[in-house]
Amino acid sequence: MSNIGSYEERLRNFDWSIAADELEFRNGDVINIGWYCSDRICQKGKAGKVALYYEGFAGAEKKYTFNDVRLASNTIGTFLRELGLAKEDRICLFMDRIPELYFSFLGALKIGSIVQPLFSAFGDESLFIRLENAQTRAIITQKKHLSKVRKIKDKLPCLEFIIIVDQHEAKELKEKEISFHLETYTLVDKMDIYPTKAESPSVLHYTSGTTGQPKGVKHVHYSLLSQYLTTKWVLDLQDNDIYWCTADPGWVTGTSYGIIGPWSLGITQCILDSGFSAHSWYRFIEKYKVSVWYSAPTAIRSLMKAGEEIVRNYDLSSLRHLASVGEPLNAEAVIWSEKYFGRPFHDTFWQTETGSIMITNFPGMKIKPGSMGKPFPGIKGTVLDAKTYEPIREPGKIGLIAFKPGWPAMMRTYWNNEEKYREKFVNGWYLSGDRASIDNEGYFWFIGRDDDVINTGGHLVSPFEVESALLEHPAVGESAVVAKPDEINMEVVKAFITLKPGFTPGTDLELEIMNFIRKKLSSVAMPQEIEFMDQLPKTRSGKIMRRLLHAKEWGEEIGDVSTLEND
Ligand code: PRX
Repeated sequence: MSNIGSYEERLRNFDWSIAADELEFRNGDVINIGWYCSDRICQKGKAGKVALYYEGFAGAEKKYTFNDVRLASNTIGTFLRELGLAKEDRICLFMDRIPELYFSFLGALKIGSIVQPLFSAFGDESLFIRLENAQTRAIITQKKHLSKVRKIKDKLPCLEFIIIVDQHEAKELKEKEISFHLETYTLVDKMDIYPTKAESPSVLHYTSGTTGQPKGVKHVHYSLLSQYLTTKWVLDLQDNDIYWCTADPGWVTGTSYGIIGPWSLGITQCILDSGFSAHSWYRFIEKYKVSVWYSAPTAIRSLMKAGEEIVRNYDLSSLRHLASVGEPLNAEAVIWSEKYFGRPFHDTFWQTETGSIMITNFPGMKIKPGSMGKPFPGIKGTVLDAKTYEPIREPGKIGLIAFKPGWPAMMRTYWNNEEKYREKFVNGWYLSGDRASIDNEGYFWFIGRDDDVINTGGHLVSPFEVESALLEHPAVGESAVVAKPDEINMEVVKAFITLKPGFTPGTDLELEIMNFIRKKLSSVAMPQEIEFMDQLPKTRSGKIMRRLLHAKEWGEEIGDVSTLEND
């Protein structure tokens, strides 16, 4: 029997107080995610239960109980507090998926600070933009990422502390740098946890939009209610499960469902901190006997491509429930997983902004391969007509995915950008920026995004951010960035550029520019292809028409080009 029981029954009787009651939370109480994910679990008698199995580079293994997590997060929290960091200070986590990342997340929350997790593959420019926007006071990082931080720290007067978690000799440290090596610290058993309330800010995740720089999505401690209940009902986690969420906590899935959800339920999870290969993933599932697995379509497509020979070499019989997020989950992937894992992947749709799962195929519900499923109980979801913003009643008609605000994990604003936040609401609906249709049984079918944001392997990339970075290369005159179809990643970044006088197109220059973006932004944002153009298509007012370049890549009709200048 799944945790959700009957979906219809849950829909009828739903109230968020179900989560509040299970968490023993009353309105007005203190609610601190750091405490809920460690101290409370210990108080419930699970201090000795394994919270985390970690496997790092070259097979290094570690194991931590919930009491270890409590002590480690207390120790880091106390250390941060002694530096003078406090309530609502932004603390950036810039680490690979090492245990310290998970402990720092809880530790920073325990002192009432706001955690700003950033993907450790980010280059110095991506990092700088986000730290400057958040006016971040401290960054916790590893030696291997230090050079990127050093490159930008002088441009960031707000950044007072650069904390390095590996063992580090004092003489190697530069200004603002502090070494904090957890294993050499005396563990702190008791600390005063900051009494955050429901609306106290907790996590600040950055996400990309079509225009402007990335936006900081502000979440609050009350989000726990959504994350707890969706983890329980959608991912169906049960006390003896071994759970693996493959997402990096630099992105929202890695915090909502890679830390908060499972640990607030006292579930054992495992983490693999090394690159993807079908062999290493299957081996990991077999070794740790993973029973619940939350992953992404790009990974599933890569596993499919690796072929059936490999799957058959491993014992994957521990798998009980599979779910996926971040991109459209194609019907073939669902059918394939049913065939080779004996279980279908259950799609889940949500966003950095929504903080928790919104639409999903529930355990036990009939799955229609290719459909995202139905809204979580308590979530009112629909599709709106793009002109009138009224809900579409007709089954199968495409509209804009929208939700009635009010669930606990909904973002509270975009950091210092209330205006952009307000633009997300129309007629009392929150607009996700995606398009879908709903069939006659209430199942949602994803169509695509309603903007130019590129979704590559489940990572959102802003064309604007890549275009701006391209312009910083000495050879680039103008740039336009669009999505290009890709078999595995669904979309990849493609750049069209014109060159400044004196530069000649060619493979060397193409590679040089690609590398330039990889270092500045990240490998995810790096164009997989650069097309050199004599001129870019523009409107009469001089605006580059990405739409046209996009249509060309996807072999689509170009549409109205009446405002085109240089056709
Ligand atoms: O376009 C949708 C796509 O990813 C976007 C949200 O990305 P992000 O904020 O980075 O959060 C990703 C993980 C929660 C959405 O606006 N997306 C997410 N899930 C799905 C999806 N597209 C299709 N199917 C999904 N299940």
